[in-house]
Amino acid sequence: MIPDLCHRAARDIAGAHHIVALTGAGISVESGIPPFRGPGGIWEKLDPMEYAHIDAFMRDPGRVWRVLIADMKTLLDQARPNDAHMGLVRLERMGKLKTIITQNVDGLHQAAGSHDVIEFHGNFAWQRCLACGRRISTTDVEMAEMPPRCSCGGILRPECVFFGEMIEPVNLSRSRDAAARCDVMLVVGTSAMVQPAALMPTIARQAGATVIEINFEPTPLTGQVAHYSLLGEAGATFNAILAALEREFQGDRKG
Ligand code: APR
Repeated sequence: MIPDLCHRAARDIAGAHHIVALTGAGISVESGIPPFRGPGGIWEKLDPMEYAHIDAFMRDPGRVWRVLIADMKTLLDQARPNDAHMGLVRLERMGKLKTIITQNVDGLHQAAGSHDVIEFHGNFAWQRCLACGRRISTTDVEMAEMPPRCSCGGILRPECVFFGEMIEPVNLSRSRDAAARCDVMLVVGTSAMVQPAALMPTIARQAGATVIEINFEPTPLTGQVAHYSLLGEAGATFNAILAALEREFQGDRKG
């Protein structure tokens, strides 16, 4: 089943001219970053409304920093791109992949070498002072005090989109445009539970794109919005698709 689907994905990619990827936490699991949902998900242990909602952060920023953000900083400091991130870079270099819409804040697509990355939920690389608005690189944040503070004394917050906050309008409009323009959308490692990001595959499908899902387990897209789903780990699945794609291209050249 999976080899057949890998071959089908390779064929669709070979015929595509404008691929857009929507990625989620699952693509970074093999880089050592736990997902939010699914096996080992952070939200199995913590209530997102208690730790990832802007009201919770404003009520008690020290608690959110201690329980969630500090660990995230340690994990993200160490994380490196994996085969799935590199697979998307290879598709870009082939001239196939144009844009990545990522829900991740880990910066691993850019670290891998992808160029057009829309960070739908912001990024963790920067912190912003709630008092003076100054931006500070996350690597420079002094972690001795919780919550960490700016030199002006204000509390720092990551430049990530918390629940209850708006998506940056330019990110939303660019993502909608990209979804509407693609001929293939690759949906990788997202539970498709969080809106409006989860709407992008529907926009792509309604505009006529083939929607291919790569995920460890079925999601609300499976058998619905996705034309087909490759159920497995993202890195190994990308390697299998790319191997099939190389065979496909060789076949084209011979033919
Ligand atoms: N390969 C592929 N998929 C995987 C892997 C893997 N190695 N490991 C886990 N997955 C799957 C999980 O089974 C799950 O279906 O990836 C999906 C990850 O889903 P979520 O954790 O919900 O991540 P995401 O969809 O990006 O979450 C959306 O929710 O809490 C918020 O702001 C957070 O951006 C995040 C948003």
